[in-house]
Amino acid sequence: MSGENILKFPPGFLWGTATSPTQVEGHIENEWTNFTAMDGGNCRVACDHYHRYPEDVEWMAKLGANAYRFGIEWSRLQAAPFAPLNPTELARYADLLDRLIAAGITPMVVLHHFSNPPWINAAGGWTNSATVAAYVDFVRQLVVALKEKVFLWNTFNEPDTYACVAYLLGGFPPQKKWKLGQFRRVTLHMARAHVQASRIIRRDGVVGNRKPEVGIAKNWTFFHAYKRFSPWDRMTAFACHYVFNKFVLDAFLGGWRRKASTFIGLNYYGRVRFHHFRAMIPASGAPVKTLKDFGFVCDDMVERYPAGLEKILPYLRRKFHLPIYITEHGSASADESFRERDLKQNLGALHRSMRAGVDVRGFFYWSLLDNFEWQFGYTKKFGLLAVDFSDPKLPRSPKPLAAAYEKICRQNGG
Ligand code: FCB
Repeated sequence: MSGENILKFPPGFLWGTATSPTQVEGHIENEWTNFTAMDGGNCRVACDHYHRYPEDVEWMAKLGANAYRFGIEWSRLQAAPFAPLNPTELARYADLLDRLIAAGITPMVVLHHFSNPPWINAAGGWTNSATVAAYVDFVRQLVVALKEKVFLWNTFNEPDTYACVAYLLGGFPPQKKWKLGQFRRVTLHMARAHVQASRIIRRDGVVGNRKPEVGIAKNWTFFHAYKRFSPWDRMTAFACHYVFNKFVLDAFLGGWRRKASTFIGLNYYGRVRFHHFRAMIPASGAPVKTLKDFGFVCDDMVERYPAGLEKILPYLRRKFHLPIYITEHGSASADESFRERDLKQNLGALHRSMRAGVDVRGFFYWSLLDNFEWQFGYTKKFGLLAVDFSDPKLPRSPKPLAAAYEKICRQNGG
């Protein structure tokens, strides 16, 4: 990106941050409650956003953000299938929404982010087709209750990641490995639930002449072979692309299903390259030194690939003709200048794609806070704000990247 001041985004562009309930709230009863991460950590207190959300909304306002993408945790709201929503928990989320709105922050609500109520898990989770109706009922009740406060709805966050890591790689509960049939069933049930829930949101979520918007958040990872002429690595990369990108996108948005969504949420981090069948990324345990020797630029998770945005955005536009939100992008690293460079490079690519005609309406930085990064625990620092997890008061403090992001939010790109 040259000439930093040329990046003006369209008026009304959303600049937000993102979190998810299990990763920040604490005091949650779902399949993660008894899960111990690789660093020995768990999500039982996390950032205590459950109690500290008023302060966190103030932090968002200080950042100059005008949007916030967060999840409403199903397990808090329903104790049994088709039960009425828990009024106390509903009131707490309503209060969070009121505070956001009062601060001029547009909420985007995520309805499923890698977790389920215990009674859903006990019945087989999303491998069970009965989960579809239970979820749709939860969504229907929630939309009726909150439609005055919310018009941006995300039905599912990264169904591809959830189905893959829980049923193929064994990283998320229920930690199954290579259950391809279950991966497929989970994806197809979620896709069915998305279509049904979207119809309900679009029907019941209207307030006056304000129409709700609905979509999934699809993780898009590029899968490539490190050596172009290695047939095995090319095959591995192609198989990953086929299953995680193509199959999942088709399941949710293919053919007539496209009409269910009003937008596409894109979570974009970068790429995975394979060398001798091995995924060359820190998240798969590839040694940092080897990655450096190969010339890969990585954060603490994956290879960075800002140029990829200029491929995937036009592709999604051509294929689906729907507006797009970047529902997640961010990096984990102790090196703040690396993170700032990475953000600016990705925003540069985003801006160029928009100039070339892609309709992107918002960008949500992952994440507002350092938090519980699933199987990795607290070792991956994605936050704009640091959280001191050794202090019971869990104090937040802005990192250098927060100042850079604040400038971007306040200048609408700047
Ligand atoms: C995404 C997830 C989010 C977080 C970031 C780093 O895949 O949606 O919860 O883990 O990655």
